Amino acid sequence: MTDRPKQPSRRNFLFLTAGAMGTVGAGMAALPLIRAMGPSRTERAAAPLEVDLSPIAPGQAITVFWRGKPIFIRHRTEEEIARARDVDPATLRDPQSDSERVHKDAWLIVIGVCTHFGCIPRGQKPADRKGDYGGWFCSCHGSHFDISGRIRKGPAPKNLSVPDYVFIDEDRIKLG
Ligand code: FES
Repeated sequence: MTDRPKQPSRRNFLFLTAGAMGTVGAGMAALPLIRAMGPSRTERAAAPLEVDLSPIAPGQAITVFWRGKPIFIRHRTEEEIARARDVDPATLRDPQSDSERVHKDAWLIVIGVCTHFGCIPRGQKPADRKGDYGGWFCSCHGSHFDISGRIRKGPAPKNLSVPDYVFIDEDRIKLG
């Protein structure tokens, strides 16, 4: 008589398989429940967003996404601030002074969506074409925005929009 371990019968194997599937199935069924208990994607997208500005040096820009839209944050240099101010708003298609568009002169914060047909203008990366006014250029149909995000040339009817935000301390903003 041999002392070999018993091979599971075909019937036992089916039970084992069914048991394993039941465990995996229970785990998979728990996933939607866990997801349902957390904030929904819509709630997360609509929530206020805090941004730490301290790592952004003068002349640099970053893009964050909030409510499904790119938000351009630019730390302007003294020269850029002077250029943004040195414009008579009465000469603009969408007349706004620079001071109406910023909370602090050094920080321009705008929604990075072209007001023509909704493309994302270029100008955030150092190598990007920034248009004739040194801000952003929308290559879809050729709109040029200045360093205050104001439309200066091309078909866009309005300036880049300024989102709702506040400074919560020296280096941090809260969007929304
Ligand atoms: S979408 Fe920007 S110029 Fe048309």
